Amino acid sequence: MSATFSHSTVVPSPISGSAGSSRIALIDRQGTIVAVNRNWSDLANQTHATLSDVAVGVNYLSVCRRASVSCDDAREALDGIQSVLTGRSRSFVLDYSAEVDRRPAYFRMVVTPFCHGSIEAAIVHIDITKIQLSRKKSHQRARDYARRLISVQEQERERIAREIHDDLGNRIALLSFSVHSLMSRSGNYGHELSEVRDRIEDLSHAMRHLSHSLHPHLLRHFGIRTTLKVFCEEYGKACSIHIDVKVPDAAQLPEETSLCLFRVLQESLHNIAKHSAATSASVVLEIEPGLTRLVISDNGRGFVQEMARQKEGLGFTSMRERVLCIGGQLKIHSTPGTGTQVRVTIPMAPKEVGAESVEPDPLR
Ligand SMILES: Nc1ncnc2c1ncn2[C@@H]1O[C@H](COP(=O)(O)OP(=O)(O)OP(=O)(O)O)[C@@H](O)[C@H]1O
Ligand SMILES: [Mg+2]
Repeated sequence: MSATFSHSTVVPSPISGSAGSSRIALIDRQGTIVAVNRNWSDLANQTHATLSDVAVGVNYLSVCRRASVSCDDAREALDGIQSVLTGRSRSFVLDYSAEVDRRPAYFRMVVTPFCHGSIEAAIVHIDITKIQLSRKKSHQRARDYARRLISVQEQERERIAREIHDDLGNRIALLSFSVHSLMSRSGNYGHELSEVRDRIEDLSHAMRHLSHSLHPHLLRHFGIRTTLKVFCEEYGKACSIHIDVKVPDAAQLPEETSLCLFRVLQESLHNIAKHSAATSASVVLEIEPGLTRLVISDNGRGFVQEMARQKEGLGFTSMRERVLCIGGQLKIHSTPGTGTQVRVTIPMAPKEVGAESVEPDPLR
């Protein structure tokens, strides 16, 4: 919602004192203000706003029309009031924000039919700042909690990945070594033993893969660039999809951001392999001052967004939650036949850029 639909476009501003009370105006079929309640006028007086801009006799549609040149909310308000006046809608509700006394304030505009003499509709502006702020607070609490859960989950994944890699990996390597040395002394059993050795190697690869998908070890040591490149290369080979990767040479990001982007990439590639039937995909990471963007696209069958929303699995939900937790945005675009694009943008404070320590890239 645009912040420019300030109260001053429709009612006097800034608001203070009786801001909690509804302000009401009654309009005729043409949108001209026929009557206003005391709050409406009192506010104008209190705040030295130009009462004549919103007083009885003024055309409220014209007020909205003028404001709508630069403000989406005013445009929406204009359409909404007109639709109630012409009987196309039974009512219209618009929540919008405005700055009042240099603080954010929130209002709900409600338009309903009100037939009395020449009056056709009532316009009410209700101050919903308290409700919105407490809603924001609970959202923030839920987000903080989700962030902590994600962090604990990542630590646990890292621990399990390390156990698999270090402990089980080493035991399997020893087993393989023993089979190797048995093979030289086994006489008739050489063939059977070589099969056992091959299976042990398969198991070792599977465990290595499991360990890496549980936790991207490369991230801490070699940074986002190498991790994305290596992951895409391995994934592309395993699924026979050509994946084009563009990552800036000197990509450096905070660890939490890198891990979040890696998880989004991981789920997006799983989705491409599982649902898209794509032959190629592209992964582009851009790091600009104050903004990081990751875009993953495929040339597969795409999907109808509405249907995917209904059967949305854990993938999109967990991607979105992860991105929101670090203050970013996730957008998914898809149309049947034209492929899918997953786009993540994460705003970053200047001090966060370059927070990740990066060792030399082994691919360069
Ligand atoms: N790249 C893609 N190409 C085509 N369809 C996709 C693509 N990505 C997602 N979808 C569609 O969107 C739906 C939701 O994806 P999401 O990742 O949330 O769930 P899922 O992959 O079905 O299950 P989960 O991720 O929990 O294993 C999928 O079921 C699929 O229909
Ligand atoms: Mg999925």
